[in-house]
This record gives sequence, C-alpha cells and structure tokens, in this order.
Amino acid sequence: MKPIIQGNVAKNCHPEGLLKAIDKQIAYVESHGEIYGPKKVLVIGASSGYGLASRIALAFGGGADTIGVSFEKGPGEKGAGSAGWYNNVLFQRRASEKGLIAKDFIADAFSDTTRQNVIDFIQQEFGGKIDLVVYSVASGIRLHPDGTRYHSTLGVRGQAFSGPGFELESQRMVEQTLEPVTEQQLADTVKVMGGEDWQRWITMLEQADVLAAGFKTVAYSYIGPESTWPLYKEGSLGAAKAHLHNTADEINAQLQRISGNAYAVICKALVTKASAFIPVFPLYITLLYKVMKQKRLHETCIEQMHRLMLDHLYPPLGKVTTDAQRLIRMDDYELRPDVQNAVELLRRQVTADNFMVIGDFAGYLQEFHELNGFGMAGVDYSDELDIHTLVKEYS
Ligand code: NAD
Ligand code: NA
Repeated sequence: MKPIIQGNVAKNCHPEGLLKAIDKQIAYVESHGEIYGPKKVLVIGASSGYGLASRIALAFGGGADTIGVSFEKGPGEKGAGSAGWYNNVLFQRRASEKGLIAKDFIADAFSDTTRQNVIDFIQQEFGGKIDLVVYSVASGIRLHPDGTRYHSTLGVRGQAFSGPGFELESQRMVEQTLEPVTEQQLADTVKVMGGEDWQRWITMLEQADVLAAGFKTVAYSYIGPESTWPLYKEGSLGAAKAHLHNTADEINAQLQRISGNAYAVICKALVTKASAFIPVFPLYITLLYKVMKQKRLHETCIEQMHRLMLDHLYPPLGKVTTDAQRLIRMDDYELRPDVQNAVELLRRQVTADNFMVIGDFAGYLQEFHELNGFGMAGVDYSDELDIHTLVKEYS
C-alpha cells in the first residue's frame, strides 16, 4: 500500500503505521522527564499535530486524564477514514492500558452543543473540574453558533506575494502566489482562526463552574522570522493570530477570579497537515529543518509540546516564562540569529533543480508520511487494507 497525495494533501493513511508513530511519541515523553502538571485536561483539536502531541505529553509524561475534541471520519462506506480518527482510537488504547481516562468527542468544536456535551461529561464522569484547556484547532471554516458560516482565506495584505514553493504530489518546485485578501476576507479569517471561539469555550466552561482553581489555558500560534512575515504574520493568518494574542489577555483577566491564566504559545514551524497547506511556507520549513538538524536543535511536535509543558507551563518553581507581550516563546530556537542567518544563506542557493538537497526535503517528506502512518519501520505495507476489517477493529 502506497501513500496517495493530491497537491499537498494526504488522501490515505495506515493505522498500523499511525500506531507506531504514536508509540514513538509516547516513548519520547516517557524517557524525557516527568511533567508535574494537570491531571484533568481538555484538548480541542486533539487528533493530530500540536494538539495530539500535547495530549500525549500530558497523558504519558504526566499521568493526565484527557478529553479530546476533533473533527474526523472513521472507516465506512465512504472510505478508510482519516488519520486523526485512528490517532484517537489508538491513543485511547494506549491510555487505557495505563489506566488513564481518554474520552473523545468527534464533533464540531465551534458548536455550543459540543461545548455543552463536554461540560455534561466533565460534571458527570470526569470528576467535575478540569485543570487545563489546550486549544489547537486548525480549520478553514467555522459555523458560528448564530448560524453564520465563515471561511478563512490564506492571503496577504497589500500586494500579492509570490515565491518558490513545492508540491508534494509532483515533488516539483513551483512558483506560488498569495493573493491580497479583501477586508471582508480578512475579518472572516479572524472569525475562523482568531481567538473568539477559544474565548467562547472558556466562558461557557467557567459559567458551568468546571474550571479548577489555578486553571490554565493555552492556544497555539505562529509568528516566524521576518523573511516569512509578508506571507504569514502580515497576512490573513497573522491577523487572526494577533487577535488570538489579544484574546489571551482578555481570557487571562476573566480567569483572575479562580487564579487562572491564559497564554498564547508561539510554536515553531513544523510539518503538519495544516502547515503543508500554506503556499510557499513548506519550502521555508525544509530550509529550517536542514539548519536545525545540523545544529542539533531540531524538534517535532512532541519535543515542542513536552518542552512547553515541562519547562514553561508547569516548571518546577511554578513561574511561567513569557516575553514582554506575555507570549510563551517556543520558537526561541527557530528565531536564533545564527539559525536564521544560515536559513537565509540556503535560501539564496535554492533552485528548482536543487531544492531537494539544499533543504531537508527528505526529512519533510518523512515527517509528512509519518503523519499518515507511512514510512514507519516494522510495518508491512505490502497488503491493501480491507475496509470491513478496519470497521471491525477501529470503529
Ligand atoms: P492539525 O491539522 O494537525 O490539527 C488540527 C486539529 O483541529 C485536528 O485535531 C482537527 O481534527 C481539529 N479540527 C479542525 N476543525 C475542527 C472542528 N470544526 N471541530 C473540531 N476539531 C476540528 O494542525 P496543527 O498544525 O497541529 O495546528 C494546530 C494549531 O497550531 C493551529 O492554531 C496552528 O495555527 C498552530 N501552529 C501550527 C504550526 C505549524 O507549523 N504546524 C506552528 C505554530 C502554530
Ligand atoms: Na492539533
């Protein structure tokens, strides 16, 4: 069985390989320092990328019971289902082997009904209070509780931005363009990827009185080096992230009553389903990977999230470290001047013929495949997967 990729989107996945990928993350946290942190955690956007890594770090590195919310498809008449679906099922298996509670809501995170169902579960079966909410949703659409459907647009402000990027499907470098967004598109992107929905979660949870004293909440964000600002920070996604950063301060004030805190966490750029979708950006990731691996600074989702929980959010002395804007900076290695200077030197050498060797294209591809359970050692990929078996084993 082979991975099928269309454009930069994976179209299939391999459950056995996904299990290996989860086990690899579990093995990492189990051998890298115990987290003395939250025991009851809600992760919104739990099935892949940063959300899944947060859940694994907290459960297997800190013994936390977890609730996950995600939007995924299981195996059935319409196909074999999404990688995130299997990640949830496999995470649950491993968690229950450890005697940990792992509950999943496969539901729309933007819906008040989902929020209410989660609250009911917390009150009836999860001990009544939670210590931490991780908000890690990446989505292109949001159905607002008032019935409005918002779409996010990946675009820039001002003039169109063109640059070299690559397509995973053809493994070719192509010129990619981010078009300017209209004011409406900008506002809509903020509605989808800004902080409003995060705040709605915390407000409803707080009103239901399910937040423990000293409660914390984090949402993930990106800023990046100046070379990427035209396409990210100063574009539509950046506007949404700026809104998210302001929302962190609003939620933080809201939580004073229970001595709680809210933080936006600036993460490093890495390979996920969501980041592969951004034009031009993956090429930067390959250059960054090359440099960070050479300097032995490379981190994937699990290293980032384990370090976040261990050193930043739940440090031994209890003091959360932030920058002057109250942001938690997990992009500290990525933004080191020596790293960015080296990336810039590589960027000047990139051509359509050499981009695979100038940057760490092989590493990018390996991580992308791993997200979908491919390319894992010890997995037999020779047989096609049978839908009936998948339904029986993973539904
Ligand atoms: P991802 O695609 O791997 O994960 C997104 C998660 O959101 C999945 O669990 C998915 O099921 C869930 N989701 C999407 N729509 C949903 C809905 N309507 N209801 C419920 N769940 C839904 O993405 P990721 O890269 O891990 O991104 C998570 C966050 O981290 C985003 O805010 C992203 O901007 C941020 N971030 C990513 C990077 C990066 O380089 N990948 C860097 C910094 C910050
Ligand atoms: Na996530």
